[in-house]
Amino acid sequence: MGPIAESPQIQLTENGQLRHFLTIEGLPASLLNEILDTADSFISMEQQSVKKVPLLRGKTVVNLFFEASTRTRTTFELAAKRLSADVINLNISTSATTKGESLLDTLKNLEAMASDMFIVRHASSGAPHFIAEQVTPDIAIINAGDGRHAHPTQAMLDMFTIRRHKGDFDRLKVAIVGDILHSRVARSQIQALNILGVPDIRVIGPKTLLPTDVESLGVKVYHRLVDGLADVDVVIMLRLQNERMQGALLPSQHEFYRLYGLTKDKLRYAHPDAIVMHPGPINRGVEIESEVADGAQSVILNQVSYGIAVRMAVMSMAMSGQTTQQQARALQNDEAAP
Ligand code: NCD
Repeated sequence: MGPIAESPQIQLTENGQLRHFLTIEGLPASLLNEILDTADSFISMEQQSVKKVPLLRGKTVVNLFFEASTRTRTTFELAAKRLSADVINLNISTSATTKGESLLDTLKNLEAMASDMFIVRHASSGAPHFIAEQVTPDIAIINAGDGRHAHPTQAMLDMFTIRRHKGDFDRLKVAIVGDILHSRVARSQIQALNILGVPDIRVIGPKTLLPTDVESLGVKVYHRLVDGLADVDVVIMLRLQNERMQGALLPSQHEFYRLYGLTKDKLRYAHPDAIVMHPGPINRGVEIESEVADGAQSVILNQVSYGIAVRMAVMSMAMSGQTTQQQARALQNDEAAP
């Protein structure tokens, strides 16, 4: 797959509604806030006994996971079910593509089954974008993580977590710590934090785990953990993505933990009310001490719960964007007819 031509407009209808969700880049703050507000309404619903809404009744959602996932796939499935959709889970690594069928042929078959939405996770950056261009425009594509490129629903559930626990974005100091270089989550988070107006966004890590042009993303760079943590309101820890590292970028995991691991002692440098986040899966004793992961400041499991409401919001908004677009196309066809 070639370089990703970022064309965020493919995600939006002519009226600026969401129809695919591929990347945070280029989206307006109003749309991100609409996702957060819609998710809020689903959370209040979660606290009541009725958990299901009929917004996607009669629609078919296909979970297309070309790469392993537990949290993301499961919360997408739950979100789709709570919207009353029919859900199909396809673990592509064990299905047709291993029998030699091309990705496009598999997609055409799913299209022929009248699917309405594909949730796509893929190891290659740009795969969901490619799929959005190849299949019928009537199928909404949601990116569930592509290579090192983007993980927009994770970033939105993180923004949701920050807003719930810390309120307005416009005074916050947020630090993202660890392996930024290989992290699609960090890229999407940095974009979302900037769009939502967070004035102080920091990345903390060794030079070998930061992209060379990282400042151009709108962040301040720190190489010493305690310097970067000074007075922050939010600490986001990231996993060391060993599976994406080529060659030795670190002396050892032990050394990484000594320098960048979040321990109770190091957390004292942050604001006393700071929250600790992590997209998961967490590696205890590699980037985070158990006492911190399970401690009073940790909201790591809240993030997982909020993920359901945020994914419900994105799916329902994309589906209504699709419907508007289909209606517009039908209208144009009527007008074109003699
Ligand atoms: C992340 C991912 O897959 O990008 N996990 C997730 O979706 N919750 C981060 C990771 O793998 O470390």
